[in-house]
Amino acid sequence: MRGDKDSIDPAAYGIETVPSHVAIIMDGNGRWAKQRGRIRLLGHREGAKAVRRSVRFSYKVGVKHLTLFAFSAQNWARPESEVAGLMELLMEYLSGERRELIERGIRFRTVGDIERVAPRVREEIARLEQDSSDGTEMELIIALSYGGREDIVQAARSFAEDVKAGRVDPSSIDIESFSKRLYTGAIPDPDLLIRTSGEQRISNFMLWQLAYSELHITDVLWPDFSEEDYATALRDYSNRERRFGLTGAQVTGSK
Ligand code: IPE
Ligand code: IPE
Ligand code: MG
Repeated sequence: MRGDKDSIDPAAYGIETVPSHVAIIMDGNGRWAKQRGRIRLLGHREGAKAVRRSVRFSYKVGVKHLTLFAFSAQNWARPESEVAGLMELLMEYLSGERRELIERGIRFRTVGDIERVAPRVREEIARLEQDSSDGTEMELIIALSYGGREDIVQAARSFAEDVKAGRVDPSSIDIESFSKRLYTGAIPDPDLLIRTSGEQRISNFMLWQLAYSELHITDVLWPDFSEEDYATALRDYSNRERRFGLTGAQVTGSK
């Protein structure tokens, strides 16, 4: 259960509305290392600390779903040593955080083409997914070997197979049933997308799911992303008016 000492009053940070689902494109590890004349992997290692900070802050402030873009389908094409280093860091994260996640009732899961991931990493993921599956306080979703286009294609393929086998009537395919076939399944769409390191692009993240997410782009490099930077993003979100295609008056109920 969530103890009092573990929660933060969002109002104390000037946050009026806490988004239910925050997704983060954690970018800038390589540049962080380069600025210091260090190897890229050191930036990733420092980035892992920012992951821990962000998970804790999300939990304390009451975010219900946190998705972290950790490794894209395209990142497989990076130098072999970098890919191996990233997978090693993931293993370290899984074993190092396992206890805290389970104790705090944080359910862990991944989205992406996990079949491409080495079996020993996959096994560790499956073990934590299983052991944290009772968690109801928060959901931590790691997008791993994930691509937004790949996600849409796999959902389309699964429909095509079911249609071909006569299990699905094409006319029954709609936005809701399509969403359910995505890697994210029943997870609600992100309310807020944060991207660090100043890049103004989606980089093949959740193309479908981000349709109406609010975007917050900060120049801060991921390893430097602090609780205060996170609070700034949440404050920014609080000040947005989400209209979903309606008029402002329709949304606020004013004339
Ligand atoms: C983000 O940092 C982490 C991953 C994509 C795995 P980068 O490694 O992309 O860092 P930059 O963009 O080169 O600075
Ligand atoms: C997006 O960052 C992927 C992750 C953060 C895991 P990239 O660094 O791969 O994206 P680009 O290449 O700058 O678009
Ligand atoms: Mg990058």
